Amino acid sequence: MPFIEHSDIVEFAENRVNLKSEYVTAYRDQVGYLTKRLASYIDENPSFDLVKMLHSGSVAKGTALSTVSDMDVAVYVKRGSSHLDEKNLIPWLADQLKLVYSHTEMKPEQFKEQDHSVRVHFKGSDLDVDVAPVLYEGDPNDRGFLVEKYTGERVLTSIPMHLDFIRRRKAKQKNHYTQVVRIVKWWVSQRRAENENFKFKSFMIELLLAKMVDDGLDCSNYLTALETFFTHLVKKQLLTPIIFTDFYSADKLPTRDNNSIKIYDPVNPENNVAKGYSEATRKQILEAATDALEALLFAKRATTKGVATDCWSKILGSGVGG
Ligand SMILES: Nc1ncnc2c1ncn2[C@@H]1O[C@H](COP(=O)(O)OP(=O)(O)OP(=O)(O)O)[C@@H](O)[C@H]1O
Ligand SMILES: [Mg+2]
Repeated sequence: MPFIEHSDIVEFAENRVNLKSEYVTAYRDQVGYLTKRLASYIDENPSFDLVKMLHSGSVAKGTALSTVSDMDVAVYVKRGSSHLDEKNLIPWLADQLKLVYSHTEMKPEQFKEQDHSVRVHFKGSDLDVDVAPVLYEGDPNDRGFLVEKYTGERVLTSIPMHLDFIRRRKAKQKNHYTQVVRIVKWWVSQRRAENENFKFKSFMIELLLAKMVDDGLDCSNYLTALETFFTHLVKKQLLTPIIFTDFYSADKLPTRDNNSIKIYDPVNPENNVAKGYSEATRKQILEAATDALEALLFAKRATTKGVATDCWSKILGSGVGG
């Protein structure tokens, strides 16, 4: 038997990786507070330009890490409203939010304008909620133009359809799909701690693993799931387009796309989620995956526990195997 087994990864995930369930609940309640307040404001002011809020990030999906410090919320904004200033969207949004929460204990200084969102800070929990605008024209599936967090680019997509997409994979592999997502995200966080330029977006990881689950990956053994994931990266080099036909047929995908990584939004075939990932970033991810796979295979053959835990510390940091 190898010194590090599935049960060791389970224990590590529970102790280090996962956001504890009581925090998941408390954090969701925090977003719920914002959402409910907005809904009652809209009830009183039906012509208001904000339509609703949807919790869109990892805490909503069940893929948050213990280290999460911010949550993502999409706020739907009526496109075409005469009050809306699309060129100054973020300052405008900050003003609207201050108005909505002006009769609560929340203070205007808790609302900070960022490049592409408004950050709401909660002092009690020290949590930040990033409120990103979605320009919305009344689509029944809540499609709208999301302002991308880091690039500011506007992408047509649907948060509820994403949540539904993830929910379908969660249903296929209860608890295990999200757990493997969280462990891989933890691996990414370790790489980023070593090199702040390392990037591998969480949504890309969720989509890659969703594809693997659709293709038969069994996530219930975390050791073998990780080995399969890293092997897949090393073998396929992130050069195989990742496509899903949940919400559109494959013939809708673009025939030309110059990005080397192609991971298409399940909701919008025009939206490559890996857009902007350079060739250098792809190679950096593959190098890290190769190191992880080597360490994992070496750990399997290790003849002492010390060697095995050493190998795992290169993948997930210290603490695997006690
Ligand atoms: N490029 C994109 N195109 C379409 N939707 C996106 C894109 N990036 C993010 N999203 C939406 O935002 C949600 C949040 O994804 P993201 O990868 O930013 O962070 P996260 O899941 O909250 O993880 P983390 O723990 O890293 O914060 C996704 O589930 C998706 O609905
Ligand atoms: Mg997030």
